[in-house]
Amino acid sequence: MMEELIRRWDGEHLVVRYDRETAAWVFIAVHSSRLGPASGGTRMKQYGAPEEGLRDAQRLAAGMTYKWAAADFPQGGGKGVIALSRPLQDDERERLLERYGELVESLGGSFGTGADLGVGPDLVEVIGRRTKYVYGLRQAGDPGPWTALGVFTAMQALAAELFGSADLKGRTVAVQGTGAAGLPLCKRLVSAGAGLKIADLDGARVKAIAEELGATLVEADAIYDEECDIFAPCAVGGVLNSGTIPRLRCKGIAGSANNQLESPADAEALHRRGILYAPDFVNNAGGAIALCGMEALGMDEDAVAQKILGIRGSLEEIFQEARENDESPLYAAEARARRVLVRGVTSLTPPA
Ligand code: PHE
Repeated sequence: MMEELIRRWDGEHLVVRYDRETAAWVFIAVHSSRLGPASGGTRMKQYGAPEEGLRDAQRLAAGMTYKWAAADFPQGGGKGVIALSRPLQDDERERLLERYGELVESLGGSFGTGADLGVGPDLVEVIGRRTKYVYGLRQAGDPGPWTALGVFTAMQALAAELFGSADLKGRTVAVQGTGAAGLPLCKRLVSAGAGLKIADLDGARVKAIAEELGATLVEADAIYDEECDIFAPCAVGGVLNSGTIPRLRCKGIAGSANNQLESPADAEALHRRGILYAPDFVNNAGGAIALCGMEALGMDEDAVAQKILGIRGSLEEIFQEARENDESPLYAAEARARRVLVRGVTSLTPPA
C-alpha cells in the first residue's frame, strides 16, 4: 500500500520516520522545488492508518506547489504530516515535536515548515527549539489573520463575478470552522456588513463566538444545508464531495481549508450545479505569503498585504477564463499555476 502510494506520486521525495516512543509516523513530502526551497506547514492528527497520513502529506504538498505557483511566489511545495496512532500527553507531544524539529534541521533548509491543522503557534515554537527552518516565530507571527485577508479579498472577487458588485455588505456567508483562519475571517466579514452563519466542531467555543459577533449558530453537520450567498470551508479538507454538493444552497464557495474538493470530479459537479468555486490554493495563500514573505524574503507588512490583495485580481482573471470556456475555475487556476511552474516566478526573487 505505501509502496504503491510512493510509486504513483509525482513529487520529488519523501522523508519517513517512525517515532518509536510515541508510535507516530512522520512524513515530510517535498513535491516540487522548481520555484524555490520547499515550504509548507506541519499537520498533526490521529489517522486510522499511517498510509492515510502519507497520502495526506503527498496531496497537501502538491497543493502547496500549486499555491506558491498560483501566487507567483518563489517557494516550492512541501508538507509535513505527523500521523498519530493514539492521543498523546502534553510532554510526550513536546518531545515528539522536538525530534521532528531535529529531522527538519537535518534536511538543511530544503524544507521549511510552520503551523497547520493540529500544530498551532505554541507547537511551532517547540519545533523551533531544534531547527531554524521554521516560519512564524519571527516577524510574521500567527498566519491566520493573513490567510483570512486573502480569503476575504477572494470573496470580493467572487461577489463581483456573481452579483456584479464586490461589496459584501448584506451578503450572507456560511463559515465552516472558526479556528486560526476562520475566526479572523468572520470578524472581517462582520466589519464589512455581511451576515454570518457559523459552525464548528467545538460547540462551546463557537457558541461564544456567535454571541460575540452576532452570528447565527448552526449545527456542525447542518452547515451544508444553509441558504447563503457564499459558503466558506475553513476547517478540514475533502468537504466538497458527492455527499455534500447536492445539499449546498450557496451561489459561490471561497474558504481557507486546503484540499476542499474530495476529487477533481467534484469541481465538475459544482460547475454543473451552477456554484462558482474559488479554488482553495488560490485564495488561501495569504498565510503562506505572510510567513515566507516576511521571514524568508524580507518583505515588510505592506508588501505582504499588497501581495495578498493581489489574489483578488488573479481570481477575477480565473473567473473570466472559466466563464468564457464554460468550465470550472479549477481548470483556469491549475493552468495558471502550471504556466508559472514552466516559466518561473516573475514578481519576486528567491532568497539568496
Ligand atoms: N500551513 C499553512 C498553509 O497551508 C501555512 C504555511 C505555509 C506554513 C508555509 C508554513 C509554511 O498555507
